[in-house]
Amino acid sequence: ATHKLLLLPGDGIGPEVMAQVKRVVAWLDQEGLASFAVEEDLVGGCAYDAHGAAISEAAMAKAKAADAILLGAVGGPKWANVPYEARPEAGLLRLRKDLALFANLRPALCYPALADASSLKREMVEGLDILIVRELTGGVYFGEPKTILDLGNGQKRAIDTQVYDTYEIDRIARVAFDLARTRRNKVTSSEKHNVMRSGVLWKEVVTAVHAQDYGDVELEHQLADSLAMQLVRWPKQFDVIVTDNLFGDILSDIAAMLTGSLGMLPSASLGAVDAQTGRRAALYEPVHGSAPDIAGRGIANPIAMIGSLAMALRYSFGMGAVADRIEAAIAGVLAAGKRTSDIRTAGASVIGTEEMGSAILSE
Ligand code: NAI
Ligand code: MG
Repeated sequence: ATHKLLLLPGDGIGPEVMAQVKRVVAWLDQEGLASFAVEEDLVGGCAYDAHGAAISEAAMAKAKAADAILLGAVGGPKWANVPYEARPEAGLLRLRKDLALFANLRPALCYPALADASSLKREMVEGLDILIVRELTGGVYFGEPKTILDLGNGQKRAIDTQVYDTYEIDRIARVAFDLARTRRNKVTSSEKHNVMRSGVLWKEVVTAVHAQDYGDVELEHQLADSLAMQLVRWPKQFDVIVTDNLFGDILSDIAAMLTGSLGMLPSASLGAVDAQTGRRAALYEPVHGSAPDIAGRGIANPIAMIGSLAMALRYSFGMGAVADRIEAAIAGVLAAGKRTSDIRTAGASVIGTEEMGSAILSE
């Protein structure tokens, strides 16, 4: 089958790291491993410069038709003063909203060669492979009421509301259980049912989904504060962690620092599987931003972007074995001592973006 892939390089280092992904895509084609119909468009500040909007309707239409979207990064100081609705982030938010990307997957994978770059001791992170599944479209970031009231007397009241419906918890739980089956078959669900009603419902629904359809997967529950502590105490106890939008935001950033540089971390955001077509909207992007401080210098680390392609192969195209090969190539290059400047470790040789792409390709 030919896979429809939409590339949205975006701003700053986005196009630089995407250029390396294009080389890997061409290689996959050439080796007969996969066949792609690749399209490309603008998102973020570059789209604003071209069309006056952070994403054009034409690009949105391509996004809806794609089997998977790869996005570089958006934003930068150049667009600090554009109208709020047209700010670069609005392009990304529009994609997430219109494609209903409710499941955010953030792997925390520690390449052995980088274990010394972690915030923790080598033995704590060597071989670490966690997948955090964060609910992305509900919870306290979106719940109503959301406001600041003026109470008079110089007093104000800020209100954010955590709202979760059964269906939202049910569908994110299923994503987590399905993923666990492709990994080490364990899910840790996290909330705070001791102090939050949404936590009570969360735990109840995850438990029910498990009993109904996933009895073969190991399920445990951990309060979110305790889980944060366990993540830095003994992270290797975890396989898949499923949690809400707010806790997932925080816990995935903690997990990120166990693995070294921001330049290493891929992510995926998935929508629901369409009952009729069996298709699922999916957007893959590095966790890092547009890095304006190093843009245009050819030194950005392309590994998070190439790792995002590997995730697309694994989760959108059923090509887990090819994804494994790409990740093994990355591990091999790192083991050979090659580093971009963001992951410099003692005795390593520092190379640029394009050389890193070449090294991964030849590995
Ligand atoms: P950032 O992730 O762009 O950069 C933080 C630091 O990490 C910088 O020193 C940068 O040079 C370094 N860095 C990041 N990625 C790297 C890579 N691949 N290789 C080597 N070094 C790398 O975050 P920052 O500086 O807070 O934001 C810069 C811009 O990016 C802002 O406009 C922000 O809004 C935007 N941003 C966009 C995101 C997205 O498109 N999803 C996510 C985060 C920030
Ligand atoms: Mg965050």
